[in-house]
Amino acid sequence: MIRVLLRLALFTAAVAGLAFWAVTRPATLPADTALPAGDPVNGALVFAAAGCASCHAEPGSGSPDAPVLSGGRAFKTDFGTFYAPNISPDPDAGIGSWTEVDFARALTKGVSPDGQHYYPAFPYTAYAFMTPQDTGDLLAYMRTLPASPTVSQPHDLGFPFSIRRGLGVWKVLNQSADYHLQGELSEQEVRGRYIAEGLAHCSECHTERDALGGLNRSRWMAGAPSPTGKGRIPNITPGVLGWSEADLTAYFTSGLTPEYDSAGGDMAVVIENLAKLPEADRAALAAYMLRIETVR
Ligand code: HEC
Ligand code: HEC
Repeated sequence: MIRVLLRLALFTAAVAGLAFWAVTRPATLPADTALPAGDPVNGALVFAAAGCASCHAEPGSGSPDAPVLSGGRAFKTDFGTFYAPNISPDPDAGIGSWTEVDFARALTKGVSPDGQHYYPAFPYTAYAFMTPQDTGDLLAYMRTLPASPTVSQPHDLGFPFSIRRGLGVWKVLNQSADYHLQGELSEQEVRGRYIAEGLAHCSECHTERDALGGLNRSRWMAGAPSPTGKGRIPNITPGVLGWSEADLTAYFTSGLTPEYDSAGGDMAVVIENLAKLPEADRAALAAYMLRIETVR
């Protein structure tokens, strides 16, 4: 009897171990995944919408048109401190030696060229929706930016968060295969959803998180504690915010609210980026915002 139980326990442990190994295995893309030839002009718009510079550019470095993506910005979280790495075209310190497949895999799967999981402080759960064309355009644009020799700083994380393999479990729990907003949508709303949930990762700030750092999808865009510890990131679900489509579009263009307050904090940077997009994209974002569910 004891031997049977022991065998059963060993078997269960082996299956659990295998399952852990399978679940945490970093996803790959076929080596011959070809990105379409990149257009750096559209790539600059993708870069703005996706807010890459807010985390990866050294403040005050380079010009607004040619930010130096040397990284260094620190993100304090409950799990430790993350530092945004150098993603400039420098072949050693940055990502200059990466292939297009390396780039697409990092951005849409959250997996590094050497097969490790990235931490979700890099919002790849949103970028997972990025189209191959936009991904190729983005890389073409980033290759035009200045190279920086600044060496990336290692993160400062405690055990077990320092073990990247465990992130495979986090991904299974938190990487959504489909968009949050479902239902019959107009072409404009579909475009707005791509910008909001994909490129611009609005919910990374506007949706609260659970204990594991995943988004609480039942409170989509209903506000969250501010990462700075001061105040709250506002609830922007339509019934609570009460803004019209024109109010929203105007805010995304100028940062002015219907009460003529101007956007502050991290939102000011988001608006600087949204202002670079075509008017039709800001209107699409507004149309999306009016379709999400009101959560109080
Ligand atoms: C909210 C902050 C934030 C934003 C926005 C962001 N990143 Fe990152 N990114 C990070 C952090 C933090 C890491 C480190 C992740 C890790 O080490 O696991 C990272 C890692 C990366 C890496 C891996 C670099 C390496 O050396 O392995 C690439 C490539 C990258 N980001 C590109 C981008 C691009 C392109 C964008 C815009 C589409 C972007 N990031 C937007 C925070 C951000
Ligand atoms: C990096 C974090 C961050 C991201 C990303 C972000 N926001 Fe915000 N948002 C904020 C903060 C902080 C405020 C409060 C601004 C203030 O106090 O003026 C805000 C305010 C707003 C407001 C005004 C709410 C009010 O009551 O005044 C709207 C609307 C809004 N955001 C929409 C969006 C949309 C749409 C996106 C994606 C395109 C987005 N935000 C992405 C942090 C963020």
